[in-house]
Amino acid sequence: MTTFSKDIIQQFGQMPTPFYYYDMALLDQTIQSMKKEADRFGFVVHYALKANSNPEILNRMQEFGLGADCVSGNEVSRALDCGFKSEQIVFAGVGKSDAEIKTALSHDILAFNCESVQELEVIDQIAGQMGKTANIALRLNPNVSANTHKYITTGLEENKFGINQWELETVVDKLKQLKNIKLTGLHFHIGSQITDLNAYKSLCLKINEFQTWFQHRHFKIPHLNVGGGLGIDYHHPDENSIVDFGAYFKVFHDYLELLPGQTVHFELGRSVVANCGSLISKVLYIKNGINTNFMILDAGMTELIRPALYQAYHKIEKLTNTDGKLTRYDVVGPICESSDCFGKAMLLPETKRGDLIAIRSAGAYGEVMSSNYNLREKVKAFYSKL
Ligand code: LLP
Repeated sequence: MTTFSKDIIQQFGQMPTPFYYYDMALLDQTIQSMKKEADRFGFVVHYALKANSNPEILNRMQEFGLGADCVSGNEVSRALDCGFKSEQIVFAGVGKSDAEIKTALSHDILAFNCESVQELEVIDQIAGQMGKTANIALRLNPNVSANTHKYITTGLEENKFGINQWELETVVDKLKQLKNIKLTGLHFHIGSQITDLNAYKSLCLKINEFQTWFQHRHFKIPHLNVGGGLGIDYHHPDENSIVDFGAYFKVFHDYLELLPGQTVHFELGRSVVANCGSLISKVLYIKNGINTNFMILDAGMTELIRPALYQAYHKIEKLTNTDGKLTRYDVVGPICESSDCFGKAMLLPETKRGDLIAIRSAGAYGEVMSSNYNLREKVKAFYSKL
């Protein structure tokens, strides 16, 4: 069983593989569901461009009135080119270069999510030279576990991200001295592919403690930015194609103690775009190994690195000749690395050269992380009509 229609599979057969295919109707439904649930609580969502920065995708986000969460000067420029308003753009990252800071300052973005004491000094200095005042949200490291893969955990003291609790007194002194920056918010992001909502409850309780700390020192905090990270169900992309945004936002509504007038901002990436994208690939060869069969695809880790890098699971679906006898395959790519493997011992209908395969839930951190290692061609993208 597949969600792809016969017509689409036939079209795929005429197209040069591998390529990303984006289901724009599902993207729209997902954005609508997220917007509806966020609006119920008056929450503001900035789409995290790092998950997928294709202009076609960004245009949809922008048309639904979302803000943008950027992590490089180029992402800030891309967001502006795609119609996001500068006052809806936030800019995070532990290593913002001077040029990137200048780009963001020249557009008067909503906030720099500032990750270290030294970064505060540099932004202040550059803002001074440009005759600007920079809006700053302090990215604080809450030391809260996200119960996710260690490579995508960001909110523990051992991680490079954010300002640690023991540095806060120094930060407060700096904020008083530096005249070209203005504190407008607190920012947090504890990790990605988070499926245990209790992690967010712990984050909220920690944020409340930080708020009290700043209140005692008479700081006004107009906005709280709680980051992103909501996980999706990679195992059931059709049954659970849209995540339960309602349950997610409700945790923040229930546990965050907001001060009067305070706005709450989110930076969601994966949960909005992952399920609308599939990597479509053709089988090049079948090779019998000692204990397994290798299904060798024309897509590899250069097109989708998540399985190789995070041992991530993506559902692998056969699109042609689907009624063959179920057979076990190691589904691998053509790249000269043993980690270039999409799935081991996968049970799929018997396959031959030329069959089409879909690797599902690849819309987030797929195409954006592709490379031309082995001098591979840049992977192409196709979009369904709405
Ligand atoms: N905000 C900040 C500060 C972030 O670092 C991230 C993701 C997000 C928001 C968006 O998180 P999301 O809602 O997409 O989980 N390449 C990895 C994921 C890296 C996430 C990096 N930061 C993967 O393929 O799983």
